[in-house]
Amino acid sequence: TGLVTLDSGYGNTAAYKSGVTYLDGEQGILRYRGYPIEQLAEHGTFLETAYLLINGELPSADELSGFRSEITQHTLLHEDVKRFYDGFPRDAHPMAMLSSVVSALSTFYQDSHNPFDERQRHISTIRLLAKLPTIAAYAYKKSVGHPVVYPSNELGYVENFLRMTFSVPAEEYIPDPVVVAALDKLLILHADHEQNCSTSTVRLVGSSQANLFASISAGINALWGPLHGGANQAVLEMLEQIQASGGDVDTFIRKVKDKEDGVRLMGFGHRVYKSFDPRAKIIKEAAHDVLSALGKSDELLDIALALEERALNDDYFVSRNLYPNVDFYTGLIYRAMGFPNSMFTVLFALGRLPGWVAQWHEMIKEPGSRIGRPRQVYTGVVERDYIPVEQR
Ligand code: CMC
Repeated sequence: TGLVTLDSGYGNTAAYKSGVTYLDGEQGILRYRGYPIEQLAEHGTFLETAYLLINGELPSADELSGFRSEITQHTLLHEDVKRFYDGFPRDAHPMAMLSSVVSALSTFYQDSHNPFDERQRHISTIRLLAKLPTIAAYAYKKSVGHPVVYPSNELGYVENFLRMTFSVPAEEYIPDPVVVAALDKLLILHADHEQNCSTSTVRLVGSSQANLFASISAGINALWGPLHGGANQAVLEMLEQIQASGGDVDTFIRKVKDKEDGVRLMGFGHRVYKSFDPRAKIIKEAAHDVLSALGKSDELLDIALALEERALNDDYFVSRNLYPNVDFYTGLIYRAMGFPNSMFTVLFALGRLPGWVAQWHEMIKEPGSRIGRPRQVYTGVVERDYIPVEQR
């Protein structure tokens, strides 16, 4: 009741109070629990960042090793879960497999459904953090037709994921430390981003008191779209398309400006960043570093640099405050690491998981938290009388 205001895309409406992530879009500031993203990316690890987001404080050495060992106890998937992968078509998108299998976890772990039981909340959180890399690696193995590789608990979180993804029985796999460090950093940079589409989805689904697996599965589906996490795959496809047309950056920029067929410069623009995206700044540097450390040159990087340069000097983009976002350079790094385009958004999901979970916990624990239920402005016919079918 009362006055309902329309706010398309929630441009101005705060739906929640949150103490997880601070973001200042005018100045390009991003902090997790008060810690600048730049410091966490440079000095931190993904697991301690996950702990920080979920628990509110950086862990002590003991807390971190306890957290790590708890996670490693849950990395295996139930053997019956493997059978889900047999049912998926081989060309299934890994994001679809990821969300389906996460949803299916709620069938295996019915003992951790109750969001109001602290122990159950904790165990479902640990299970998700532990199993998502395994679920993601199995999806990749399905797509290439290789046997799955079971988790190895002597390895760190990222090394274990890389091994499950890239190791094959025929040869020993030793992850490149450059790749491990870069992927860890990228996961940190993706770990939370306040009320984005997928996080708000997790909160909205969770607000009905659905279990954590169900809420996170919904978040994964929201992330998949090309305007959100799916942008990293879309950027690479855009770069490949420009490459196939002979590297003609100017024609592409013209198409974007003319809004031809709704073409957008993927990896550009953001709802809240209006000067620059601090994550993109770090990632652009990392792209150079990783490619040179791996001894890979990539013509697509040159196309990306040319696109960025053109756009930043063009009034269309400048007047609309469109700058490269987190997704503009990540795909190039993932590609250099050996991931196919279809896995890029899965990597985003691995990174974003702690943020989703942290915000779900925050919501569940908030006293007086209510079910999410937007209002509407009705535009249909106000009232009319039913007409029997033979008279229509
Ligand atoms: N290329 C061309 N024009 C654009 C772009 C773009 N990438 N982004 C926005 N615009 C234009 C848009 O056409 C509109 O123009 P006009 O005023 O003439 O109608 C104006 O800029 C404002 O755009 P909007 O769609 O109202 O902005 P939004 O805040 O609703 O959308 C966005 C934000 C990120 C969805 C959008 O910028 C976009 O589609 N970017 C490309 C997809 C992308 O890179 N997404 C990743 C976002 S960051 C990480 C993540 O969330 O996963």
